[in-house]
Amino acid sequence: MKGLVFREFIDMVEDQFSLQMVDEIIEASTLASGGAYTSVGTYPHDEMMQLVHQLSIRSAIPVPDLLKHFGRHLFQRFTVIHPEYVKSHVSVFDLLKVLDNEVHVEVRKLYEGAELPAFEYETLNDDRMLFIYKSSRPLADFAHGLIEGCIAHFAEQMTIERTDMPVVAGAHTQFILHTVAHADSR
Ligand code: HEM
Repeated sequence: MKGLVFREFIDMVEDQFSLQMVDEIIEASTLASGGAYTSVGTYPHDEMMQLVHQLSIRSAIPVPDLLKHFGRHLFQRFTVIHPEYVKSHVSVFDLLKVLDNEVHVEVRKLYEGAELPAFEYETLNDDRMLFIYKSSRPLADFAHGLIEGCIAHFAEQMTIERTDMPVVAGAHTQFILHTVAHADSR
């Protein structure tokens, strides 16, 4: 996992919890990096899982909720750090359709060693899209939060129906996104 993601996580914990919380979760984890991350460095994703786990213990917020929260936060941050990948799209479906073949392809060029998941989609009708996340990393909650952040960014009203498929390791999760109201009907 890229240091950029760790740095964004640590900044979020500092802003939304405290600097002391950052110190505590780093101290309580077993981190080869020592908790010092550079944006372009690559670090084991297990370090993120440990930090989130430690934050969960101290905040009494379940790990899946923290990962989703971080995903929502990170999408908003992506709109600031990399506006070029977001502003050329007009809707959630529009962005998600090109996430795998365009957005994350550019991310891979920009961040050497980026470990990215695979996404597939199927347009079910004008209002519904099936979006499938597959990764060797167990980050479906993080993906869920990023999708929610994307929906908030485009100010769309959508429901997310999620089904986690059984896997030995990593994640295989289906999201059915359903637009419940169009901008012109609000
Ligand atoms: C709704 C939209 C998006 C979704 C669902 C999504 C999903 C994900 C997920 C789940 C990961 C973690 C890797 C894994 O699970 O294996 C990831 C990593 C990443 N994504 Fe996206 N992403 C989205 C949009 C974006 C955008 C707009 C950018 C723009 C820069 C971006 C840049 C990255 C970067 C830099 C990483 C880190 C790679 C690494 O740690 O090695 N993503 N994304």
